Amino acid sequence: MIDSADSRTTRREFLKTTGQFASATALGAAALDFANSAGGQPAVHPGGGDAIQIALVGCGGRGTGAADNAMTAKGGPVKLVAMADVFQDRLESSYNELKKKCEVPQDNKFVGFDGYKKAMDLLKPGDIVILTTPLAFRWVHYTYAIEKGLNVFMEKPLTADGPCSRRMLELNKKAEAKNLKVGVGLMSRHHRPMQELYKRVQDGEIGDIIYMRGYRMHGPVAACFVTKWPGGTPSELLWQIRNFHSFLWASGGLFNDFYIHHVDHLCWMKNDFPAKAQALGGRHYKFTPEGEPYVDQNLDTYAVEYTFADGVKLFMDGRCINGCNDIYSSYAHGSKGSAIVAKHGDFGPPSMTFKSQQQGRSNMLWTSKSIPGEDDPYVNEWVDLLDAVRNNKPYNEVEHGVKSSLASSMGRMAAHTGQEISWDDMLNSQHEFAPDVDKLTMDSKAPLVADASGKYPQPMPGITKTREY
Ligand SMILES: NC(=O)c1ccc[n+]([C@@H]2O[C@H](COP(=O)([O-])OP(=O)(O)OC[C@H]3O[C@@H](n4cnc5c(N)ncnc54)[C@H](O)[C@@H]3O)[C@@H](O)[C@H]2O)c1
Repeated sequence: MIDSADSRTTRREFLKTTGQFASATALGAAALDFANSAGGQPAVHPGGGDAIQIALVGCGGRGTGAADNAMTAKGGPVKLVAMADVFQDRLESSYNELKKKCEVPQDNKFVGFDGYKKAMDLLKPGDIVILTTPLAFRWVHYTYAIEKGLNVFMEKPLTADGPCSRRMLELNKKAEAKNLKVGVGLMSRHHRPMQELYKRVQDGEIGDIIYMRGYRMHGPVAACFVTKWPGGTPSELLWQIRNFHSFLWASGGLFNDFYIHHVDHLCWMKNDFPAKAQALGGRHYKFTPEGEPYVDQNLDTYAVEYTFADGVKLFMDGRCINGCNDIYSSYAHGSKGSAIVAKHGDFGPPSMTFKSQQQGRSNMLWTSKSIPGEDDPYVNEWVDLLDAVRNNKPYNEVEHGVKSSLASSMGRMAAHTGQEISWDDMLNSQHEFAPDVDKLTMDSKAPLVADASGKYPQPMPGITKTREY
């Protein structure tokens, strides 16, 4: 885990440097505008009512939803003009859902690992590309978007390991320098009830935060547990991409994919990111009811204790097992009271505050109200991004996107290794899960190849201690 001392970035330096980015963004906007008009790539849309073109890279469930949100949100018109995916069927089923709102010619639909370039080549600087593949490809696609001067909406998580986290932050400096607007799909931060709760917590309504709790416990969902690759078509690589929640290289595993929302919005309430994590986790069900072994890299239970620099704790519990007590909500506890952050799901309202740790009606201080037209954070995040594009406002969410991804990876790694993992350990880790992901073609071998029995390396806490596999 530990590499040479001089190459290590400490948490304090990291938070300080990335904090400087944030303020540099605001200060730099006007200067960059000037730079742009003086020979850099011009932003095409500020102020105008002209159509913003979008390209969709990764035409699955979320990508289709994001494109639809973009074309629905106030701040348009927005027009989908190009699509790319590695699966033809995914691209076509996505287009079937979207075509009532747009027309994408057949020539503007691209299948393959290089499709992202062809789709982005059809945009002009200042247009927006949507990056909604599994996270493994995020830095590759972001690199090209920055090169092309495109604004970006990209889904969470952004990274699954230390090297990609460092790379994304470096890349983001280039996006900042070009004054690009970048939204990240941590939608809780665009949910109006949570925004008001955030203000109330900062104003001291529940006192100093002492501890926070996040729970996401339900049955298995998406492709978090898989049995072995059947062979043939799709190739092992494409099959892993289709089942990305099962593979750490593709998604960071179910921990990063599912639990990042609670980790993110609780860190937001605290205005900080954790300094270290220790965790428990286990795999109770290793076989299907028919007796076939599961071969994915996930555990079915996780319990992470995060500690912030001031000693405050964040407890994140996750479980993917049927028939247990399902809980999917989050809470903050302070010296003067407490709060329900997400009452159900990743952001489900109402958010509430209480004057005690007993969260009953008689102790309630505040409950969030619906704001007609602003109740969907997936639309709000587009309203906010389009407003930034149209009005040339500073807007870049990559910093907290990377930090929340890194915090998720810390918790996952603590569970997978059975060790305490600090922020600096995670940030400086040299284990890159898929170093050559930018070179993949349809014929490539998968970044992780099964052994003769069809199995992949799985976490072995206490035995494999400095890497997760
Ligand atoms: N914010 C949220 O609430 C939310 C909800 C769901 C998913 N997500 C995130 O969105 C991302 C996608 O999730 P999903 O549920 O839509 O998965 P999905 O499998 O439905 O969609 C992903 C799509 O990307 C395509 N793809 C994979 N690699 C590609 C590549 N190199 N180039 C082009 N296309 C590629 C796949 O074929 C697939 O069509 C994930 O990062 C996930 O965590 C976020």
